[in-house]
Amino acid sequence: MTAATTALHDAAVGAMGHAYAPYSGFRVGAALVTADGTVFSGCNVENSAFPAGTCAERGALAAAVVAGHRSFTHIVIATEAEVPTSPCGICRQALSEFAPSLDIVSITTAGARAHWSLSDLLPHPFTPQSLHHL
Ligand code: THU
Repeated sequence: MTAATTALHDAAVGAMGHAYAPYSGFRVGAALVTADGTVFSGCNVENSAFPAGTCAERGALAAAVVAGHRSFTHIVIATEAEVPTSPCGICRQALSEFAPSLDIVSITTAGARAHWSLSDLLPHPFTPQSLHHL
């Protein structure tokens, strides 16, 4: 692994360490990389009113957008699962708005790794153009 890759994995795992997941016990961290190489991280934040909880990926996306970034190259997702997990459907749609072909890397703390393109995980997203097809 390059130093940059290691740093990105560390950012995702570090974010996972801040996850608030008392209900599922499933901690998730995400590190989203902008076109200029800036990294924004997020973790899942659950809530006693379950649907109010948010995913790590959308946390990272919101942090990046509020900082003025709208162009992304890849995201690293970290969990403690046995098998690397892919982003949920809502996060796929949310990420697709800005980066339909985003590279997605999922790692586990045990060292497993998987890789997808968002366009393979969500081949037919709802797009801004969809709104004009009335
Ligand atoms: N979760 C994420 O943070 N990202 C995903 O892509 C899938 C699920 C969170 C939501 C919830 O806090 C926990 O994992 C279990 O679903």
